[in-house]
Amino acid sequence: MLINASGPKAALVLLAVGALTTATPAVAQTVATDNVRQSQDGTKAMAAAAKTIDGMFKGSSAYDANAFKAAAETIGSHSGERLSSLFEKSIAAPGSKASVNIEAERQAFDKLAADLSVYASRLSAAADRNPDVLSPQMQMRGGDVMTGGPLARKAGVRDVSSMSAEHAFHLMLQTCTSCHAKFRVRAE
Ligand code: HEC
Repeated sequence: MLINASGPKAALVLLAVGALTTATPAVAQTVATDNVRQSQDGTKAMAAAAKTIDGMFKGSSAYDANAFKAAAETIGSHSGERLSSLFEKSIAAPGSKASVNIEAERQAFDKLAADLSVYASRLSAAADRNPDVLSPQMQMRGGDVMTGGPLARKAGVRDVSSMSAEHAFHLMLQTCTSCHAKFRVRAE
């Protein structure tokens, strides 16, 4: 059975049949391509940056406008076209958990990547406006329920400037999750 297969050759077989989920981490690592490594470095940086911002909103780490902005910029720089282009050629590359669906649903993928950069800019701008403290304006508030509701979803992210930074951050995390749910193959 394919489930028990291992080694680069087996990985190619798995790829051919689209059964990426059964590739073992060892196989994935030995044959990872540059693009895959690049995307993984990028996503790790994004994950660390999201953690930094999350800690500040939760109050588990002190607010630091520069660090907050740097984290937002890190996410911004790895999103949008850069994120989209990383997955242009590496689809189905051994070691990548990128779903083969990306090519088929390129527009949806690019939209999620672009949304991410909109939220990142929103957060970066919020840091500029709040150099000293994480102000109440940055935090979730009643109006966010409106801007984040089904109506807002219909309108897309155009209303992002009117929502609190924290709300934009939550929507950003949802964008990470949505894209992973749709386009990342689960290896575990
Ligand atoms: C437009 C789609 C998309 C968005 C948005 C997105 N990701 Fe990902 N991410 C992926 C794909 C596809 C993979 C699988 C990459 C691979 O294995 O080559 C991935 C993988 C990852 C990984 C695993 C990296 C590894 O070493 O295997 C982490 C961590 C991650 N993303 C974090 C994030 C965070 C944090 C955000 C939001 C701030 C985010 N991603 C937003 C598509 C996306």
